[in-house]
Amino acid sequence: MKISIIHDLVRWEEKALLKAATDRGIEVSMVDVKDMDMDLDSQLSDSYGGVSIQRCTSYYRGLHSTAFLEYKGQIVVNDLNSTTTAGNKMLTSLALVKNRVPTPRTSVSTGYEAAMKQFSGKFGNRAVIKPVTGSWGRMVALLNDKSAATAVLEDREYMYPLYSIFYLQEYVRRPPRDIRTFVVGDRVIGGIYRYQSEGDWRTNTAIGGRAEKCEITPELEDISIRAARSVGRGVFGIDIMETDSGYVVHEVNGTTEFKNTVKVAGVDVPGEIIEYVKGVAR
Ligand SMILES: Nc1ncnc2c1ncn2[C@@H]1O[C@H](COP(=O)(O)OP(=O)(O)O)[C@@H](O)[C@H]1O
Ligand SMILES: [Mg+2]
Repeated sequence: MKISIIHDLVRWEEKALLKAATDRGIEVSMVDVKDMDMDLDSQLSDSYGGVSIQRCTSYYRGLHSTAFLEYKGQIVVNDLNSTTTAGNKMLTSLALVKNRVPTPRTSVSTGYEAAMKQFSGKFGNRAVIKPVTGSWGRMVALLNDKSAATAVLEDREYMYPLYSIFYLQEYVRRPPRDIRTFVVGDRVIGGIYRYQSEGDWRTNTAIGGRAEKCEITPELEDISIRAARSVGRGVFGIDIMETDSGYVVHEVNGTTEFKNTVKVAGVDVPGEIIEYVKGVAR
């Protein structure tokens, strides 16, 4: 059996996937997305193997290379549809709401005035703003009052147009941590708590959040699977917050990092992913 791993960086995760596959006797072609010749008129070469694992850190590179591969008949984990949805916070929120998965109250606008009106009206002058595309907590900002909102929204209006899609969300009262669970196919394989660092309100480990093992209860399992199914099929990292009225899902991640989960929770994430990939390969 042969598979390919599409990447732009080779991180700990990609090396672990390569090893997990090789250990199972699977031949792996490591494809740097920047070297791919996406000739729309030619047939896909055999070098991609029976299935491709999409691991690009860049959402746009991942999205476009997944589209190319899938249209050429290749099986890609994750597929184009779930990559599109998971890669955009508005699409993810829409999918969660549609499927009645508890999620923080969210409102989107494309104009500065409308966004300020939502901020003051619906959210009572306190909200979180997020770029619809992005990760690692980047540009996720807590707007604590009107002048903070004015400053941030005004700045974003003059940035790349994508940042003028103002995605505002209620600031959720939660402990100084959140939960990240991993869904692979139909199973939740493990999870971690992520504690925010002293100087930040965000829990992302990329900005200093500390990981601890989280036991998967039936309730966590249920909400994780429902969140993943709202977005599609494949491998997902589900971000969950604990509130007084139960769990809420604030993000579904497509190509997730999992080093901390392997190290802290002792879950064999790369092995589980490769087993799943074996199952979906032709
Ligand atoms: N509505 C919210 N209320 C409180 N904290 C939040 C909220 N949304 C996000 N956060 C915090 O900010 C972090 C980053 O937000 P998230 O939506 O996961 O974006 P990213 O794609 O950057 O990880 C979350 O992990 C959480 O710690
Ligand atoms: Mg997140």
